[in-house]
Amino acid sequence: MLPEGVAIDPLTGAVTPNTGEYTKRLSEFRGIYRDQKAFDALLGMAGDLVTYRVVEYRAENSDIFFGTTTMMPGRVGDEYFMTRGHYHARRDRGEIYYTQSGEGMLVLQSRDGQTREVAMKPGICAFIPPDWAHRSVNTGKTPLVFTWCCGQDAGHDYDEIAAKGMRTLVIAENEVSVCIPNPKYVT
Ligand SMILES: [Fe+2]
Repeated sequence: MLPEGVAIDPLTGAVTPNTGEYTKRLSEFRGIYRDQKAFDALLGMAGDLVTYRVVEYRAENSDIFFGTTTMMPGRVGDEYFMTRGHYHARRDRGEIYYTQSGEGMLVLQSRDGQTREVAMKPGICAFIPPDWAHRSVNTGKTPLVFTWCCGQDAGHDYDEIAAKGMRTLVIAENEVSVCIPNPKYVT
């Protein structure tokens, strides 16, 4: 393990060098958006779009790792393209999201029912405390690119958010993004 300078392209999210990447496609978000008809229509019309790409820099045996997430702009009904949302498997592990281009909203909730939103815009580094679920939403018309950094052992726990959704929704209302309580959220 040696020190290294890693280039991050703020517009494309390219990480050079990197140790891996993956993409998420629209079809993997079935059931997550509230407007199922709009989801099916978009999938039928536009095909199985890539909605976001993650590129990682992971040094073996290091405690931390980092990378970028590049989220495409788009909407399913009145909801924007977003990440699935997760807690960390380890409840004592936080994270940061440093936005480099685009605009979005980071939606967070704690286990005990608190909710917060942090606007994502270039130059803002969001602090995600341990044990707060987090989901990023691209509310703009261009790619939303952010660099994240967290513990390699943090892990992901997607199940609760997949089953219940999040307490807060970000929707387009007259072409302006607003945060509203999720009417279908069951505590
Ligand atoms: Fe995370």
